[in-house]
Amino acid sequence: MKEKQEITESAERTDGSEKTERSEQIRKQFCRLAEIGKEENGTGISRVFGSPFMETAQREVREYFETCGLSAWIDPAGNVHGLLKSGRKNAPVIYAGSHLDTVKEGGMFDGLLGVVAAAECAVSLQKEKIPLSCDFHVIATNGEEGNELGGTFGSRAMAGLLPLESAEYLEKAEKYGYTEDDLRAAGMDFSDARCWLELHIEQGPTLWKQGEQIGIVTGIVGLQRYAVTVYGKSNHAGTTMMEDRDDALVTAARLILEGDALARKTGHHFVETVGIMHVYPGSAPVIPDRVEMVLEIRSEDESRMDSFMEKYRTVAEHTGKVTIEPIVRKAPVTCSSKIAHEIGGVCRACGVSYRKMPSGATHDGNAMAQRMPVGMIFVPSVEGISHAGEEWTDWEDAERGMRILTETVKRLMEEEDATC
Ligand code: HGY
Ligand code: MN
Ligand code: MN
Repeated sequence: MKEKQEITESAERTDGSEKTERSEQIRKQFCRLAEIGKEENGTGISRVFGSPFMETAQREVREYFETCGLSAWIDPAGNVHGLLKSGRKNAPVIYAGSHLDTVKEGGMFDGLLGVVAAAECAVSLQKEKIPLSCDFHVIATNGEEGNELGGTFGSRAMAGLLPLESAEYLEKAEKYGYTEDDLRAAGMDFSDARCWLELHIEQGPTLWKQGEQIGIVTGIVGLQRYAVTVYGKSNHAGTTMMEDRDDALVTAARLILEGDALARKTGHHFVETVGIMHVYPGSAPVIPDRVEMVLEIRSEDESRMDSFMEKYRTVAEHTGKVTIEPIVRKAPVTCSSKIAHEIGGVCRACGVSYRKMPSGATHDGNAMAQRMPVGMIFVPSVEGISHAGEEWTDWEDAERGMRILTETVKRLMEEEDATC
């Protein structure tokens, strides 16, 4: 994982502009928060959902929000809020932020960059005495990354999208210290919401390869995950001849290859992954009788995912004894074209190169889009690497993204028409 001083060096490589005092403060604040959850062996950041690191980070971010002039609190689902009131009665609300948690051994920028960008946007609005036509509500969400309670946990709690009717789900939530009352109390009305705005690293190579500075996100992929169990017959690995075997792992391997081929044939940025696999009984001299895997598919087009799964189920039936149970289903999101237009206008006004592009990663926007229009801004990820300690965004790119977010919010604040 790159060390802090490298952010300093890259920050000195800005386009010759004097590093302002403020820029230095923001960089230091970012580094301080980014360190929470850093692995001893330096392979990345593990500020994972439910970890003590997350609790520390929630407290630190609440204090940070207060230094940004926001009234701050942590909600019963672990989301950290910072509110800048407009002073207008029943004002619409611009929500902005990103997630505070990371994957295990993840990078410094995924999530946290958007949290700091939104908080610093609030500081700019106050410093520049921008007349606020809307309240500005910053959120550092909890549990965006995949976890036992399902990714985008915190944003789904706020949006009232958690399966609270499921006793099994509530039992799992209790394990993380969340009662049904907590999760209901975290729900927000959102009828006042104008939009959700998020600055995020691209987590892919497009901007970096094309040398473009900003991505304006047109849509966020949908995601479906399935528990796939493949059955066979365990037997002695020495006395059972090959022709007499029903080896669950061999069947699973065939199914994985078939699924991969089917996904490649689907095209249109469709992706399919088996990221988890457990072999049972898991003993060298025993032929496996069961394999449990998690299949994940993603696409901007929900019907394409559903038709893939129909084909996949047919292939599975012909491959062996297989069960397929749905685990997660997140609809794809179309971002607000109005917000995208505003972001484009800001980029042009700032002389910043940009492209409109989809997001192959899911985000809190998948949940927030069920309640309000969503706008997302990407900054380049060096070599497209993310969800790894090597994840990197040059500080001048990070700062540019913060500036574009702030200028976009300022434009939205100027408009009387509070629809996005
Ligand atoms: O998995 C994702 O796309 C996101 O980083 N949670
Ligand atoms: Mn992530
Ligand atoms: Mn993320």
